[in-house]
Amino acid sequence: ETDNSLRPKCMEDYIGQSKVKENLSVFIEAAKQRGEPLDHTLLYGPPGLGKTTLANIIAAEMGVNIRITSGPAIEKAGDLAAILTNLAENDILFIDEIHRLNRSVEEILYPAMEDYALDIIIGKGPSARSIRLDLPKFTLIGATTRAGQMTSPLRDRFGVMLRLELYSAEDLEKIVTRSAGILGVHSRYDGAYEIARRSRGTPRIANRLLRRVRDFAQVKGDGIITKETADMALKALDIDALGLDNIDRRMLTSIIVNYNGGPVGLDTLAATIGEEAVTLEDVYEPYLMQIGFLNRTPRGRCVTLRAYEHLGVELPNGQQML
Ligand code: ADE
Repeated sequence: ETDNSLRPKCMEDYIGQSKVKENLSVFIEAAKQRGEPLDHTLLYGPPGLGKTTLANIIAAEMGVNIRITSGPAIEKAGDLAAILTNLAENDILFIDEIHRLNRSVEEILYPAMEDYALDIIIGKGPSARSIRLDLPKFTLIGATTRAGQMTSPLRDRFGVMLRLELYSAEDLEKIVTRSAGILGVHSRYDGAYEIARRSRGTPRIANRLLRRVRDFAQVKGDGIITKETADMALKALDIDALGLDNIDRRMLTSIIVNYNGGPVGLDTLAATIGEEAVTLEDVYEPYLMQIGFLNRTPRGRCVTLRAYEHLGVELPNGQQML
């Protein structure tokens, strides 16, 4: 991450996701009253919505340490065993991109989550035996953009599953205004709202655009974030009125021009525009589907008439927009 200073440190400062916050606050309070660790918690949803931030807030509210790692960083079973045996009682282990754990590592996790135990195999062949080591009680927080790609034995071991949603422009405006305050830059409501509206429902994008708008405001304006400076900066960055960037537009245009509006398979589309399929699926599609520009069908991706209209492309078969 480029900047931790913008991340809220407590639940009170965490804007939006009200349902997740309300439920989580109850689970945290109950676990604290019982003097137990929080149940293992899975955070899932599109990237950039604050899963890591939320894990840090959970640790702060529980008053415990957090150890942060990621699925691809844990290469061997022994790597995970080393992490688990170094935890203190009630600590949190945060594994980002948990769907990318390899199988041999994942199998260490099952008894660790269920019984706070580590099964170690000693020796090889017929004389091999397994011994069981006790681990401290801990909370695993997993984060993933693709809960559907996790194995069910792993998914089933989470007692709490929380889905983060794309943010409303109203909530993003509050985030931009808060971030502007932390960065020490003056922002007007119309400027913050314009950034918010064009951030594809994603705080990480909103904070990134805020920094770029600040650059433009500083160099080309009077240093204040207004709708005019936001417009100027976003235009220079090729971000359109709805916040779509080059890749969003290439995706939609390619489906229209190369595949008659769809359906087209994700891998075919990815190859056509030279992007990775997982990037399109995890990063780009959620917002395009939310604004009703793209549908996923069993036969592939389809563009809607609204997308034709936004891109200024004539509708197929002489259809009229109602
Ligand atoms: N930065 C990223 N996510 C945030 C949130 N939900 N609230 C405040 N600031 C944030």
